[in-house]
Amino acid sequence: MQQSPVIILGIESSCDDTSASIIKDGKILANIIANQDVHEAYGGVVPELASRAHQQNIIPVVDKAIKHAGISKSDINAIAFTNGPGLMGSLLVGSSFSKAFALAMKIPLIEINHMQGHILAHFIDEENSAKPTFPFLCLTVSGGHTQIVKVTDYFTMEVLGETIDDAAGEAFDKVAKMLSLPYPGGPVLDKNAQLGNSNKYKFTHPKVPGLNYSFSGLKTSVLYFLKRELKLNPDFIKENLNDICASVQKTIVDILLIELKKAIKQTGINQIAIAGGVSANSELRKRLASFGAAYQVFIPKMEYCTDNAAMIAISGYYKFLQQDFTEQGIAPNARMKI
Ligand code: KG4
Ligand code: ZN
Repeated sequence: MQQSPVIILGIESSCDDTSASIIKDGKILANIIANQDVHEAYGGVVPELASRAHQQNIIPVVDKAIKHAGISKSDINAIAFTNGPGLMGSLLVGSSFSKAFALAMKIPLIEINHMQGHILAHFIDEENSAKPTFPFLCLTVSGGHTQIVKVTDYFTMEVLGETIDDAAGEAFDKVAKMLSLPYPGGPVLDKNAQLGNSNKYKFTHPKVPGLNYSFSGLKTSVLYFLKRELKLNPDFIKENLNDICASVQKTIVDILLIELKKAIKQTGINQIAIAGGVSANSELRKRLASFGAAYQVFIPKMEYCTDNAAMIAISGYYKFLQQDFTEQGIAPNARMKI
């Protein structure tokens, strides 16, 4: 049974962004995202506040997506939603909404793994954008994950290495917090780093076996470095902010790329993609873009890097083609693995 066109509504609510997207035969018609400013005052996501904000946002966001796409509710063939990993209270809002929508509209329900969604964002049909072919390696770097994934097919993925403690995004956010930058820290640190000297300060690299990562040591060494310097000069951060940001950013990107290069060597796979919020990072994008002609590098469009429902809708589209549907009894899984 292959219908044409296939129209999927995607729902993302795993953390602090409420998003709905409409995709028609792989092309995005709408991708609406409501960010939650409520967390800014706390310097990080407060789970209970996130789920309350999702409840307020979900219906207006879906309504806006349907209007923006110029379709009617009855045109939708299936609804795909993030079922994990993420914050349980946040996941519950998106999954409950999706189940109710599927029941009311008598359409199939499709569950999506958020991290697979980040990777499959590369298959969104965009003009002038090449898509990776299988197999490829994907460095998935977000606020909660840092993984090197071997992608053999749309839903056949193997984690070759991952962080044993903090995620790369977490490292950006925690260092930004030490520097008193506003939340979320990653993009702000990146902006400052672009004006700084990345070779000014050196931080040590972790020693972790295999293709794994560790970022907790870097966080601690930046903390001690700042304490030491602030004792000598209380204005140290103010006077050297851009150089500190650039040096930390370079260290994080160096660490990410060392393991990625090892994975390329071990697998012999030369198609490389990046995914997840940290793939918006300017230094990471610049360094990957200059990898050389021996590699094919796929860097997502900015709007598909951080959390969005377009990546959930495209994943739903590929599950729809395989008629891979889920039951109403499904429960969110906050610790879902790839
Ligand atoms: O994928 P994402 O939107 O949410 C999760 O699933 O975690 O990733 C959010 C993470 C945050 O840690 C944020 O600071 C980081 O991505 N991030 C960045 C940049 N933009 C977002 N980190 C470094 N540079 C950026 N430009
Ligand atoms: Zn994410």
